[in-house]
Amino acid sequence: MSLENDVRRAADIILDADSVTIISHIDADGISTEAILAQALTREGMAVDSVFVRQLEPMAMRHVPKDGSLKLFTDLGAGQQNLLEDHGLSSDEVLILDHHVGQPCGTTYPQVNSLDHGITRMSAAGIAYLVAKAIDPTAIDLAKLAVIGNVGDMMARENCGLVGPAREIVRDGVEYGNIIVQDHDLNCYGTSTRPVHVCLGYCDDPYIDGISNNTNAALRFLERLGVTLKNPRGGWLVWEELPFEDRRTIISALAQQLIAHGRETDRLLAETYIFPDESERTPLRNASEYATLLNACGRWAKPRTGSSICRGERGEAYRDAEHMLAHHRTVIRDLLQYILDTGVTELSHLQYVHTGDRFPDTIVGIGAGMALSKLNWKKPMMVLAAMVDEPEVTKVSMRTNEWALGRGVDLQKALVEAAAEIGGAGGGHRIAAGAFIPHDTEEEFVDSVNRILKRQFASADPDDC
Ligand code: C5P
Ligand code: C5P
Ligand code: C5P
Repeated sequence: MSLENDVRRAADIILDADSVTIISHIDADGISTEAILAQALTREGMAVDSVFVRQLEPMAMRHVPKDGSLKLFTDLGAGQQNLLEDHGLSSDEVLILDHHVGQPCGTTYPQVNSLDHGITRMSAAGIAYLVAKAIDPTAIDLAKLAVIGNVGDMMARENCGLVGPAREIVRDGVEYGNIIVQDHDLNCYGTSTRPVHVCLGYCDDPYIDGISNNTNAALRFLERLGVTLKNPRGGWLVWEELPFEDRRTIISALAQQLIAHGRETDRLLAETYIFPDESERTPLRNASEYATLLNACGRWAKPRTGSSICRGERGEAYRDAEHMLAHHRTVIRDLLQYILDTGVTELSHLQYVHTGDRFPDTIVGIGAGMALSKLNWKKPMMVLAAMVDEPEVTKVSMRTNEWALGRGVDLQKALVEAAAEIGGAGGGHRIAAGAFIPHDTEEEFVDSVNRILKRQFASADPDDC
């Protein structure tokens, strides 16, 4: 079946249901997915309830109600179909909308999975949007949420942004008027919220010698360029507020700085997505900061706050989210610092670190991704973390990059295989995957993943290992 047919069938299954329960993931993609579907269904006058889970695992299944509603599993489910079966769910009460690698079981559950159609750069929110649009073709206001989900799950390509069907979703948002695409924009976090020198000083990917990690030096650099940095009232301007010419001047000066230090310039620019309907100088103003705000809500156990924000609620929900965002960023910074200070243990084909119970299991994957670019980026990075509320279980997060994927690495396969050997469960994507394992099997597990990665590297390029 084509993607269009799968999407149409999903819309029809939903429209046939008396009531719907959405079971979604707690990250930016899961939250925006839920918000798209809940709004689309409410507009149709349908009864809809939502449940957020941090991962679909046996303990989480108790949150899935045993009632007559259609269970819509979103941004999860494809990799845990055996759990749905064990829970006694039949194929006529389940619909899966997901972009994770599927693990089929005896029951054939109806689903829309972008991977089934060879689409790797599309998140669950993108699929949810296509379904919402099949339900109501005028629902293109929701494209903005799909872009947030896609950006949150890092579906954009370096330099050219969202591609394929995810790009068509961007076009819907542009047509509706709540998305502005800026190509060749500065690839730094905080372009809508931070004074320009702070934004540059905090930017370390790409690492800009003399500017990264030094906001004072960044300020002097900008002053030398003679660009306007303050508004008439004396307040600092953010990047988004700078005149176009000044932005170009800064970008070329940064490119020269990178070249002068023998560094690549390809990470300096990115396509960004601005939301003109949101207040200026807030994290809601662009897709990347909006996604981080939603991640902060979800990872700190308040996904519903994130969902309310997606539906347009501001006021208290927004203030609450801003606090979580500030906290989230501090903890992520601490986590990265902890990993770098502690140092990783390098095995032949992976590097790992155990963060004990210092950081919540819901954020260690972010730390793994950030640490990878600062350490030996050729070796897949693993972080192990104790689960405070389930001491017998260890959470594992792994991240790798396009270079390793090109060499045959597939983290999803590696973790699924290694976890199965020791009675755990894993899943995810080739580039980013996770697992829960019994805590007394950690050593054996790490060795086993290392062995599997060795095999993967070797099978792609026998001469290289
Ligand atoms: O789980 P994943 O690796 O996607 O997490 C990435 C998330 O972490 C993104 O939402 C990203 O915006 C956020 N992040 C952050 N601060 C950074 C880097 C990433 O909050 N410096
Ligand atoms: O938790 P983390 O951010 O490391 O997850 C990376 C990817 O692995 C996500 O897509 C997540 O849904 C998936 N995962 C999984 N099963 C687990 C843990 C994570 O499928 N037990
Ligand atoms: O569960 P889940 O799908 O949310 O996990 C997505 C994770 O995969 C995020 O942490 C995201 O940062 C990571 N990812 C990545 N690089 C990509 C695509 C996804 O690190 N190209």
